[in-house]
Amino acid sequence: MDMSMPPAGLKSALFSDLGVSDQSRIQSLMEDIFRHAEDRVNPLDDRVSCLSQALYLMYLARARKASSIAEIGFSIGYSSIAFLESSPQAKVTSFEIHTETSVKSAKEFIDSRYPDRHQLIYGDSTQTVPAFQIPGPMDGFDLIFIDGGHEYSCAKADITNARRLAKPGATLVVDSLTPWFKWGIGPTTAWEEAVRDEIVTPLEYVSDALAVSRIQGPAERAWAVGQYR
Ligand SMILES: C[S@@+](CC[C@H](N)C(=O)[O-])C[C@H]1O[C@@H](n2cnc3c(N)ncnc32)[C@H](O)[C@@H]1O
Repeated sequence: MDMSMPPAGLKSALFSDLGVSDQSRIQSLMEDIFRHAEDRVNPLDDRVSCLSQALYLMYLARARKASSIAEIGFSIGYSSIAFLESSPQAKVTSFEIHTETSVKSAKEFIDSRYPDRHQLIYGDSTQTVPAFQIPGPMDGFDLIFIDGGHEYSCAKADITNARRLAKPGATLVVDSLTPWFKWGIGPTTAWEEAVRDEIVTPLEYVSDALAVSRIQGPAERAWAVGQYR
């Protein structure tokens, strides 16, 4: 894993507090959890967040004052670290289908560093998210990050089902809006439909760590931020 490149030019209209010490702290935590979770017998199937995305998620959660955060797609915990580092009050609930050793090792790492602040729900999000109980509308999540199954049906179900778990006006981030890659077609279509159907209001598009007016290639990574309506 090459994390030696700094996230040059990370820019957003939604926050401004970028710090060099944050960058080295998050990078070092990502390296630590990677070493803890690395499993060469069963290597990862999916891509994981890069440093600039992790920093973006951390600053976004902080700027939106999100203390209750959900993510679909835990993998080895990079985005969980980003959210847990956004504030000492932040609590994260992750939904993850895989139960491999790497996922369990990453969970162990998170629990030792952030005791009682992380919950991991195993299973297919198309079933576990609808089954997840929140006590009341004001107990829902402030921020939801969708980065699980990339097939259209899964991304569509995740955006739709997670809305029930969101507080009114909660922030939504949908990853992989890269329709020039095969794995980006499903999330991009699902996002565009959510905007068209007025489920979400777009706030920002990010392409290779830069805020842009719309998603367009080429970019290695691109995601969208919005607000549930
Ligand atoms: C791109 S990775 C997540 C990366 C992570 N958010 C990060 O920032 O590094 C996608 C994860 O979603 C999980 N996943 C795929 N389909 C899923 C589903 N239907 N339900 C829950 N998790 C799923 C995969 O096992 C994988 O760990």
